[in-house]
Amino acid sequence: MICIIVGMIRKKPSDFLLLITNGTRSETVVPNIRRDMKYMGSKNRIAKYILPIMLKDRKPDQWWVEPFVGGGNMIDKVSGVRTGGDLNEPLVEALKLIRDIPETLPDLVTEDDYNLAKKLDNLGLKGYIGFAMSFGGKWFGGYRRDVAGTKGCMENMKTQSRRSKQNAIKQSVNLQGVILQHASYSDMKIPPNSIIYCDPPYRETTKYNIAFDHYSFYEWCLEKHKEGHTVFVSEYSMPPAFECIWEKEINSSLTKDTGSKKGVERLFRVKEVRSNV
Ligand SMILES: C[S@@+](CC[C@H](N)C(=O)[O-])C[C@H]1O[C@@H](n2cnc3c(N)ncnc32)[C@H](O)[C@@H]1O
Repeated sequence: MICIIVGMIRKKPSDFLLLITNGTRSETVVPNIRRDMKYMGSKNRIAKYILPIMLKDRKPDQWWVEPFVGGGNMIDKVSGVRTGGDLNEPLVEALKLIRDIPETLPDLVTEDDYNLAKKLDNLGLKGYIGFAMSFGGKWFGGYRRDVAGTKGCMENMKTQSRRSKQNAIKQSVNLQGVILQHASYSDMKIPPNSIIYCDPPYRETTKYNIAFDHYSFYEWCLEKHKEGHTVFVSEYSMPPAFECIWEKEINSSLTKDTGSKKGVERLFRVKEVRSNV
């Protein structure tokens, strides 16, 4: 199969259109211009709206804590003392690789490498390939292709590998000093009076292969609030003990299966301490 990039047209400052011919077909795609890890459920696109709200009253040396750090797409936009955790160990190890030695990440990950990577003992590399080289950043959800019909195309493999590594190198700068923990949210070590930003698996949405008890999570948030932390949660809906402080309709195209859809992203804060949710 031959893939040829035939042109790049500037549409508006942040958008580039790549015209790609693939055999007889011609398709137009807008590539991701990113500096983060491609990750399912990434908050990259809404960070600019919700971070100023959450950081408004941050005190000097107050910790930023993210118990569901995912691809690190929020924590990499915060400065100062920060810690992030996640239950997914390969993911946390991948973030450590990105933070510490991104230049050692592979320049080329072919589709065969991708399929074999599921069996890697090196958790960091496995995590990096499993997320950053996957369609939609979904854990081994299929090799990344921005254009349909490029299966087995070496040009696509080179492009995707190069983009992932470039993103990792850029993100690395913004992850310096972040303490990463492989832990469930409830076991995370949290310094006193922190700002805790939670981006848990949403109820009623694409799952992360990890069972999640939302009611225990609500209780935990209320407990942290009682202990003196400021707790924020990204979700579509939350129980009455939480108030919605921001919302916006966002287009999301999470997976090949769900396709593109609209959803209202919301940010909640613990409203009051209650024993029941
Ligand atoms: C919506 S994603 C977070 C995305 C992240 N905010 C970003 O922008 O890249 C939710 C994350 O929660 C993690 N997770 C699921 N259950 C967990 C648990 N019990 N404790 C900690 N992390 C958990 C998943 O592995 C996943 O990375």
